[in-house]
Amino acid sequence: MRGVEQIPWLYDAICAWAEWRGLGRWRRWLAGGARGRTLDLGCGTGRNLPLLPPTARAVGLDPAIDALRRARRRAPRVPLVCASAEALPFRAAVFDTVVSGLVLCSVPDPARGLAEVRRVLRPDGTLRALEHVRATRRWKARVQDAIQPGWTWLTGGCHPNRETERLVEAAGFVIDAEGRRAQANLRRFAARPAAAGQGSIRA
Ligand SMILES: C[S@@+](CC[C@H](N)C(=O)[O-])C[C@H]1O[C@@H](n2cnc3c(N)ncnc32)[C@H](O)[C@@H]1O
Repeated sequence: MRGVEQIPWLYDAICAWAEWRGLGRWRRWLAGGARGRTLDLGCGTGRNLPLLPPTARAVGLDPAIDALRRARRRAPRVPLVCASAEALPFRAAVFDTVVSGLVLCSVPDPARGLAEVRRVLRPDGTLRALEHVRATRRWKARVQDAIQPGWTWLTGGCHPNRETERLVEAAGFVIDAEGRRAQANLRRFAARPAAAGQGSIRA
């Protein structure tokens, strides 16, 4: 069975509601800060693409072909690639920005995907992310653990209990304290490839 992420009209309807409820502001932050050559990782139905600054030269990538068809209608001029984060079909250090909107929860192997993101980003590039993450309250995290198998099945890949910021740091990124926001289980942040010996500055 296809999950919500593979049913573009349903995914878009749910997103439109969530964006009306406030997610839209975070999405505009996510896309609006993109600079230069930009990869919209897991672009899905392309909701970030029209929000990218006109100066950003974007490529959208997603493994779901039906979602990409919808993204094509939303952003006809943006090149779209059907591929996975774990095996990005790009040379090293070609992107100034990688945008990840609600994607790292769905990538089956996030460590591999983040290693690929790091590879394709220039050393002075930026990963911009809007993600929901594992709850900080223990009982909520336990609930997330309990519902994860059913949730992943229903949504078509999403893991509600991922420690995404920890995974990003483990992949060799430093999360900027400036611009980072946390609201319930939602996070938005920009992260840069760490220089040798550099640690996290996350607040
Ligand atoms: C919740 S949707 C987010 C879509 C879009 N980024 C947005 O902000 O609306 C998650 C997306 O991640 C994609 N995805 C799942 N596995 C992936 C992978 N291995 N590599 C890249 N994208 C993946 C899904 O196909 C889906 O489009």
